This record gives sequence, structure tokens and C-alpha cells, in this order.
Amino acid sequence: MDPIIKASDVQYCTLQCPDLDVQEQFLIHFGMHTVEKTDEMLLMKGDGTQPFIEKVLKGEKKFISLAFVASSMEDLEKISKTESFSDIEELSTPGGGYVSKGQDLDGFGVEVVYGIKNLEKTAETIPTNEGRTVNRVNQMKRFLKGSYPRILRFAHAGLNAINVQDSFDWYQKHLGLIASDRLFLGDPKDPNTPLQGIFSRLDKGLEPADHHTIFFLSAAMLSEGKPVMNHVSFEMFNIDDVFTGNEMLEAKKDEFNYFQEWGIGRHYQGSQLFDYWRNPFGQTHEHQTDGDMFDNTFPTRDLNVTIDEAGLGEEPGESQWGPAFSNTFGNAENG
Ligand SMILES: [Fe+2]
Repeated sequence: MDPIIKASDVQYCTLQCPDLDVQEQFLIHFGMHTVEKTDEMLLMKGDGTQPFIEKVLKGEKKFISLAFVASSMEDLEKISKTESFSDIEELSTPGGGYVSKGQDLDGFGVEVVYGIKNLEKTAETIPTNEGRTVNRVNQMKRFLKGSYPRILRFAHAGLNAINVQDSFDWYQKHLGLIASDRLFLGDPKDPNTPLQGIFSRLDKGLEPADHHTIFFLSAAMLSEGKPVMNHVSFEMFNIDDVFTGNEMLEAKKDEFNYFQEWGIGRHYQGSQLFDYWRNPFGQTHEHQTDGDMFDNTFPTRDLNVTIDEAGLGEEPGESQWGPAFSNTFGNAENG
């Protein structure tokens, strides 16, 4: 079945936090900059072109919504006429634009936006020499000691869903998402094997898309059946920023009550270099870089994650290197 529209990108996430000052300080250490702050709302940006990448509302900790980008105003109109989405409103946030708001099967908010003016300037990246592939000649790579990690863009969300397959199907139908990897706790061909999660990506035709834009995980397996945020993820400029981010959060964690959930390591599915940190309320934020990019011809893989898919070591589908999967990952603490 053809989807109603095919989203072309993601733009920002919206979270609710009990204390905006605490979240602002965490996000600054995490690599963001304050764009706007009132008693009720905080907007934070990275160093890329998105005018803001995390919106924070004041209140009980909660995942509010994920914003997708429509390819055209006609697509925004199309989605706004469906039962699950609202009429189009004008956005008053930086960059302007228009939004239609909906809700998925678990009650998570879904925004579809169009016409947000992105910023022109981004921070400079210094080219990386890899082996004898020389991208940097007569130029030194220097980071100011103790500098903040640089975030390129809001990248994806992990959501614990009551029914992983039904949730994916909903996003497929409304926004055109494609399944990259379906994770089974056993033989994928056996209909009784539990489905643990689905990594899903945008359908951008032959233009490469991130391996995942939403990672649906089983709420029954992780968060006592409650649909909660699993994590929100931000793409860093490069590997140095994952490590400078780690150094920054390590240095601040005792004073500010941060908690490293899992990292630094290299994922299997998606292949990203990752580092997950919880803010003082327990909401997990990920730094990641160097992920796989697939166009819409790459087939869905059904994986048995209880065995090592690459056959290169003993650790099952968690990380290729780095620490083992934390046993609190994606628990109900994320809210
Ligand atoms: Fe992630």
C-alpha cells in the first residue's frame, strides 16, 4: 500500500522536563546552545543548520513528539486531512514554517512540518585522514582543550511501543517509513519468535537515508509495558565530537547528576559510533556519528539478535566493540 506521504527528513524532538534550568545546563554540556527560553519553554540548537533541535516544555518528564519534514506544502495539506492529524497551523518558533500535529498508536505526538527556514552557517569540520586516504594536507587538526562537542543535527528517536509491528505499520502508512532491520529473539522464520524491535528509515528514493529515523522497541520487554521514550539521538560532526562529548559529560556527571547509560561503542545495526547519557531526570540522549546510509533499494533484513550476525566474535547484536548492552537501557525511567 502506498503511504499517504513520504517524509523527507526529521527536524527536532520535543520533551517535557520538570526543570528547564537543569535541562538547559545538561544540553549545554551535551553540546547545544540556547536559542529561546521562557518560564514554560526552552529551545536549543546545535552547530548545524536546524534552527533548533530540541524543544523542552516544563512539566512532568515525558516524550512529547518527533517532528518530520514534509516534501512539499501539498504533502503537508494531504497529511493534515487524515483522521490522525490536525489542520495546518503556522509555527512561531525560529525559522517559521507550518505544522500539522498528530498522535501515533502509543499516544506519542507526531508533528509534520514544512517551510522551516534552516540556518546558513554551520561550524567548520576539519577533514579526516584515514589510513592513506589523505583528505587533509598542510592543515592541523586542533580542538580547543575542554571544548564542547559539536552537534550537526537532530537525528532519530527510539520509542518503546506497545506493539512494535503495529507502530511501524502506522508510520509506514502515514509517513512512508521503510523497515531497515527487524530484530527477533530467535529464529525470524518461526512465527512464535518474539519481535524485539524494528529499525526504520525514511524513503528518500535513491537518495541515501540514515539507517534509522525511528527505532521501535518492545515496551513489554523494556519498560513494563509502558510506551515511553527510549532515547533521542543527535548526530555529531565527527568522531572527535563523540569523544569530546564523553569527556565533557564524564567531567560534569558527579556535580550535575548525569549518568552514562551505554558507550562508547560501535553498534551493529546502523553501525554508528554511539554514547548514551541520561539527564538528571533519567531521559536518555545519544551522541552518534558515522552511521550507515541506505537508499530505498536496500532490502529489509530479519535478524536473529541472539547470535552474532557478523560472526566475528562472541557478543550478540549489541555492540561490535565497546561495553555490553546496559541492563537499564530504555527502561521506564525515560518517561
Ligand atoms: Fe540511537
